[in-house]
Amino acid sequence: MSSHRRTVALFVLTFSLFSIGEAAPKQCRCLYGQSCWPNQSAFAALSRQISQPLINPVPPASACYPASSPSGDCAAVLTNFQDGLWRADQPGAMQSPAFETYTLPNGTIEGCYSNTTLGLPCLQGNVPPVGVDARTVGDVQAAVVFAKKNNLRLVIKNSGHDYLGRSAGRGGFMLWTHHLKERSFNSRFIPQGAPRSERKTYQAVTLGSGVQWGEAYDYVNQQGRFILGGLSLDGTVGAAGGWILGGGHSTFSSTFGFGKCVSKFGFHLN
Ligand SMILES: Cc1cc2nc3c(=O)[nH]c(=O)nc-3n(C[C@H](O)[C@H](O)[C@H](O)COP(=O)(O)OP(=O)(O)OC[C@H]3O[C@@H](n4cnc5c(N)ncnc54)[C@H](O)[C@@H]3O)c2cc1C
Ligand SMILES: *[C@@H]1O[C@H](CO)[C@@H](O)[C@H](O)[C@H]1NC(C)=O
Ligand SMILES: *[C@@H]1O[C@H](CO)[C@@H](O)[C@H](O)[C@H]1NC(C)=O
Ligand SMILES: *[C@@H]1O[C@H](CO)[C@@H](O)[C@H](O)[C@H]1NC(C)=O
Repeated sequence: MSSHRRTVALFVLTFSLFSIGEAAPKQCRCLYGQSCWPNQSAFAALSRQISQPLINPVPPASACYPASSPSGDCAAVLTNFQDGLWRADQPGAMQSPAFETYTLPNGTIEGCYSNTTLGLPCLQGNVPPVGVDARTVGDVQAAVVFAKKNNLRLVIKNSGHDYLGRSAGRGGFMLWTHHLKERSFNSRFIPQGAPRSERKTYQAVTLGSGVQWGEAYDYVNQQGRFILGGLSLDGTVGAAGGWILGGGHSTFSSTFGFGKCVSKFGFHLN
């Protein structure tokens, strides 16, 4: 009996590894530094389509380099280094400095350390070197189309909280959603295109992708309502980014379940 079970388990494992291999992309993404990377005129054309200048995210400690003559306000960086709200405001800063680093195949770690006395160079690591500071739907569309057209590694960064560091990506092209801060309340929200059973009236809040939990709670409290959300120091986790895409745990989940959208743009308020 038990040996039969083991055989079954082995078969399932083998099968899933095979499927992952099959699904792997045939063509690798074009990374920064490679000859396929878009040239200046391609980026200039992109700039004309978006509302903000292109950004060049850098690891936050880069302001402290070169150590003999710091390029930026190193003292401010050191003061804020552990501050999640400050980190969320820097396109090149992740919530854990480890996510900003890249480990080479030979084990060498590329990063930019705040401790300059280590005598190590400040390197870009996993921080995408170029990106779009999205403020409009058009900005998001232009960034995604540009990445697709040029086969770039599109990295969506919101608050930088991703536990696997997926809001960073070496040599990638960043779509920074942090400034999409739209908030609106609708006491008679009807989800469009939803199944008939869901097509009823909800009290709902619509949040831009960059809204963080602290901001969402303040906004919803002003409406005299409660919303099921995440918990982190200073409310830095994004409400409408990775949290809702990943299922959304809350301290109130035992009573109200996981976070849920009632449509692609509305949150159900309990
Ligand atoms: C200190 C801390 C506390 C936490 N507390 C909780 C908690 O209480 N409950 C809970 O459930 N989780 C919690 N988490 C986990 C957190 O919800 C996840 O890491 C979540 O993915 C973070 O999403 P973000 O948008 O804030 O961060 P990001 O790291 O910026 O994004 C997370 C992922 O989602 C992708 N993404 C973000 N926005 C979009 C978008 N608009 N479209 C497509 N992809 C997007 C990013 O590319 C990335 O892969 C916590 C994490 C930390 C570090
Ligand atoms: C830039 O790249 C485009 C292709 O994306 C090419 O048509 C153009 O000639 C290049 N421009 C320069 C100045 O190299
Ligand atoms: C690891 O590889 C990098 C890039 O090829 C190289 O610069 C570095 O010297 C190597 N480190 C060691 C310890 O071999
Ligand atoms: C910085 O690195 C040096 C050299 O390894 C070490 O002596 C020192 O304690 C470090 N400073 C901090 C604040 O970690």
